[in-house]
Amino acid sequence: MKTALILNGPNLNLLGTREPSVYGHQTLADVQALCQSACDTHGFALDFRQSNHEGELVDWLHEASRLQAAGKLAGVVLNAGAYTHTSVALHDAIKGTGVTLIELHISNVHARESFRHHSFISPAARAVMAGFGVPGYALAIAGLAGLQ
Ligand code: DQA
Repeated sequence: MKTALILNGPNLNLLGTREPSVYGHQTLADVQALCQSACDTHGFALDFRQSNHEGELVDWLHEASRLQAAGKLAGVVLNAGAYTHTSVALHDAIKGTGVTLIELHISNVHARESFRHHSFISPAARAVMAGFGVPGYALAIAGLAGLQ
């Protein structure tokens, strides 16, 4: 069974209380439960993580690439949060490892402030999705299934 690695970046641990008009009322634990159900549907094992630290996300992408090389990774779904808009390190980690990765945002970043319109992740990602709310995580996992 392959693993779907769902990585969440800074401030996503605050889901549920953080700007509910933008991100909704569901918590990160709710997101994890949704991802578990999507992984059950598609026959993936779930590895679900969150970090507020850029370097830890980089380390996890390196770990993912080792899993991919072993044929055990379905792919990565990355919501890099604000690092999306700032992190050359995450861009380089995705490019440098060649890991299969879907960039995900709960909100439609293109309909928000202009500083959210640029992504360092998008040019290195296999696919990009934004604006479906929390259900987007399940859609991204379905997308990974379609890529197998
Ligand atoms: C986000 C959008 C980012 O601009 C923001 O910094 C986040 C969350 C989203 O899921 O919509 O932290 O990635």
